[in-house]
Amino acid sequence: MSDAALAPDGAPSSVVGRRVHVKVPATSANLGPGFDTLGLALALYDDLEVEATDAAAHEISVHGVGEGEVPLDESHLVVRAMAHTFARAGVEMPSVRLVARNSIPHGRGLGSSGAAIVAGVIAASGLLEGIVDFSADDLLEVATELEGHPDNVAPALFGGLTIAWVTPDGPRHKKLIVHRGVSPLVLVPEHEMSTALARSLQPESVPHEDAVFNVSRSALLVAALIQSPELLLQATEDKLHQHYRAQAMPETDRLIRELRAAGHPAVVSGAGPSILVLASDPSERAEAIRLVEQAAETAWQPLPLAVDFLGATVTRADG
Ligand code: HSE
Repeated sequence: MSDAALAPDGAPSSVVGRRVHVKVPATSANLGPGFDTLGLALALYDDLEVEATDAAAHEISVHGVGEGEVPLDESHLVVRAMAHTFARAGVEMPSVRLVARNSIPHGRGLGSSGAAIVAGVIAASGLLEGIVDFSADDLLEVATELEGHPDNVAPALFGGLTIAWVTPDGPRHKKLIVHRGVSPLVLVPEHEMSTALARSLQPESVPHEDAVFNVSRSALLVAALIQSPELLLQATEDKLHQHYRAQAMPETDRLIRELRAAGHPAVVSGAGPSILVLASDPSERAEAIRLVEQAAETAWQPLPLAVDFLGATVTRADG
């Protein structure tokens, strides 16, 4: 999105009547040692239709997850992300008619806020097609500005396994294809966890040996996920975040310990409280589900999910 690409007149009339269909995957960030860096896109989606209108106000409806809970005005996260993207493009934000059909659970560590932000960013980019064009780096930068860190928005945008890092010129990513011998299982509890609370539990600094521990495990984890799934149990060890946050999600912590003791590569999904098991095959998933059913004191929903390889899609729907 170079300055030269800015819309000549900044008028919203050029996009009125345009309509896009957007689909964004859930994501699991951190994956154990890869704090704020690694993320995996999962085949569970929020679907949205967005039309630019010349009405006086936005018209928003939400079905499925978040229905009756999320705001239906300009403070809706998808609309805020659209407004931010239009502002970055130098084009006035139009009113929108937005219909969201959501499946990604909120507040569970499955990237729902990152998905809403990515939905808004790519909906805006779709509506602006041919007026202002965005590169992949532009999309990641705009989404990261809103999310604060790139590890959920990168896999939501691009799919697969992503390594995301921040440079003086903005966030960057590398997408990798996950080995077919990796079968993710997400275990979702009934209660939520606030990412802000989880982040407030992180210390200002960590021991040098813990940093070295995580450098070795996160390097190994990339190899394990793309080439050597048999290394996943060792490769998902972490000393940078899960231990500090355990007090805020004690059952998550206890179940992960039990799963790992039984040989399953289990980690906190994102900031929690869900658990991600990077199982090697469907029978390992079934064993992990049985273990959690027996050991848990509250209800946990098992979601055996494929890796999403495509990332977010946006399709013009106005013909
Ligand atoms: N890396 C982030 C965290 C993911 O663990 O705080 C959740 O947004």
